[in-house]
Parts: sequence; C-alpha cells; structure tokens
Amino acid sequence: MAARSVLRMGENSLFESSDEVQDFATVKLDSLIQDMWDTMAAEEGAGLAAPQIGVNLRVVIFGYETNSRYPDAPAIDETVLINPVITALDEQIEEGWEGCLSVPGMRGLVPRYASIRYSGFDQAGRPIEREAQGFHARVVQHECDHLDGILYPQRIRDMRYFGFCQELEDSGLMSPQPCDDDGIDAL
Ligand code: NI
Repeated sequence: MAARSVLRMGENSLFESSDEVQDFATVKLDSLIQDMWDTMAAEEGAGLAAPQIGVNLRVVIFGYETNSRYPDAPAIDETVLINPVITALDEQIEEGWEGCLSVPGMRGLVPRYASIRYSGFDQAGRPIEREAQGFHARVVQHECDHLDGILYPQRIRDMRYFGFCQELEDSGLMSPQPCDDDGIDAL
C-alpha cells in the first residue's frame, strides 16, 4: 500500500470513460482503495477518483472533518463510492470555485447542481444512497465526472474565471483562499 503519483491534465487516460467494478471485497479492489486513501492523504486532498492514479475503474473516495474554505459546512463522512449514479433533486445550479489534484495550482468557477441524490456501493458491495447539498454535492459531482473522463475546466462557462489561484485572488475575481496546490479544496 502506498501513495501513488497523481496524473495531470494532458494525460490521455484522464479523458477516458472508466469501467464498472464487477467484483467487490477482493484483494485487488481493497488494495486500490487503500492506495487511493494513501494518495489523498499525501496530497491533503478532499476527494480522489481512481482514474487520477491511472486506474480506469468507477471508484471515488471523498470526505474530511473540516474545510477551511467552508468553515460552517458540515464534515463529510469518509466515503468509498463505487459505480456511482447521481440524480439532481431539482434544477438549481450553483457556481463555485474548484481545484483538482490533476490540475495543480489552478482554480475555476464551475456550475454544479445544488442538491443531488447519489447512490452506489461501498467496497464490500453494500448499497449506499444519500442526499447531498452544497459543497458535499459539488465534491461528489466533481469526483464522478472523473469517471466519465471530464475534468472541471471542461465545465467552466466563462474561461475568464479559470486561472492560477494566486492571480485569481490578486485580481479580486476569487475571494482569498488557500492557494497551495494540495489544499483541502483539492479534488
Ligand atoms: Ni479532480
């Protein structure tokens, strides 16, 4: 078990659609998930998708106890979500700033559904079904996009709101936030 290197935008496999997991509770799957947790911890991320470490399977992990950008946001339970399905609960869209471990140093303003239901399986194959709002909903949509080969810059509506973290902050486009590449908002 070990932290692996995170693939960066430009790598072809990040743009591929990933395959569903067929077998649960296997040594291979458990080992992949442990590597994902180790990688996320090493990068101080808030979420990670398997394709980001070069494995094109429909597995994402996310969760944190505190989030410096959203101090009032409730913690998100540490979650392994396999073969996820997302349904929007209504049509409301929110724009919010995102970063990604595969796009280091950058931030972008990304539209996401404000309220979603997500379902899938944990690593033992037990069903998961939850509703999420706000940043929790954003994290899940960001991670699940990775499974369809979509990186957040592809969802930005106005490319003026995509750039290097420090410059966006200095120009006043983005409110001050941690700009290290591996901040808690790294997905
Ligand atoms: Ni990401």
